[in-house]
Amino acid sequence: MTRRSLLLSCLLLAAVSLAGSKSTNVTEATLWFEQFSGEHRILLNKVVEASWASNTDINQENEKAELAARLQLSQFMLSKRQEMDKLFDWAHLGNERLKRMFTKAADIGTSIVTDEAKQTRFGQLRSDMIRIQSTATVEHPDTGEPIPLSRVVSLMASPDVSEAVKKALWSRWRDASGRPVKQMYEEYVDLANEMIKEAGYANFAKYWQSWYEPKEGQDFEQVMAELFNGLLPLYKELHGYVRHALMQKYPASIFRRPVTFPDTFSDTCGADAGTIWSRLRNRFPMSRRSTSPK
Ligand SMILES: *[C@@H]1O[C@H](CO)[C@@H](O)[C@H](O)[C@H]1NC(C)=O
Ligand SMILES: *[C@@H]1O[C@H](CO)[C@@H](O)[C@H](O)[C@H]1NC(C)=O
Repeated sequence: MTRRSLLLSCLLLAAVSLAGSKSTNVTEATLWFEQFSGEHRILLNKVVEASWASNTDINQENEKAELAARLQLSQFMLSKRQEMDKLFDWAHLGNERLKRMFTKAADIGTSIVTDEAKQTRFGQLRSDMIRIQSTATVEHPDTGEPIPLSRVVSLMASPDVSEAVKKALWSRWRDASGRPVKQMYEEYVDLANEMIKEAGYANFAKYWQSWYEPKEGQDFEQVMAELFNGLLPLYKELHGYVRHALMQKYPASIFRRPVTFPDTFSDTCGADAGTIWSRLRNRFPMSRRSTSPK
């Protein structure tokens, strides 16, 4: 045996014994998971409380607290993921239920990214967009009064508000809330796609789809398109009913003629590719952006 091959076998042995040191002991794994689960619950609850506080009272302090709670949870998930990988060969546990729990806990999404600057930016973009959308106000077309979102919604639903005022409120609302976040949203999508690749997903849309646990070889987008097309007859009836009811109230001039019922999903959505995701992609282009050249 040459020196080199001796060294190689030593290294191999060391590697094997190292790999062998990962436990598949169900008792140990159960104990670890209970501990993890207890700590996780506490941090998750902090996120929920901080998020409630900042959603019901939007100010910088609450926003910061929510961001901090989210980052803390994210860091916890990452460190626990590293710990479980080190301690357990969890993919080979002899208890299916426990194995599934580990698999779920191992799927930590964008928390897998160790770059703190990226994590902070990702959280910041999210809270900036929420703040802009929630605090935008629009001018009432008649009175000039500034109107917050909650009142826009009630005015839109009110039978006493004219169609012209509703139209103006709606388009002003879009200008005040949608336009300013457009660029942020694009950055958010790019960052989400970039981050989720580290977790092994082609893009963020694929990650979202994974929550529905598509079966091996199943095309989730196809399943959704079939579901939609199955519901289409009902949709047409509802569409007709609502249109009829609205016609009792509003002038005929605002209704498009002739009535065009959608023949396919793509017609409904004005998209061209014929699946539910094509529309989502067009508006929120998670996967398109992931493949666009940098
Ligand atoms: C599993 O771990 C427990 C607790 O450490 C220990 O008592 C038990 O003997 C282990 N079982 C096996 C099969 O190694
Ligand atoms: C498998 O693990 C689950 C969760 O820890 C536990 O409730 C169940 O009793 C275990 N089943 C067996 C057969 O050990």
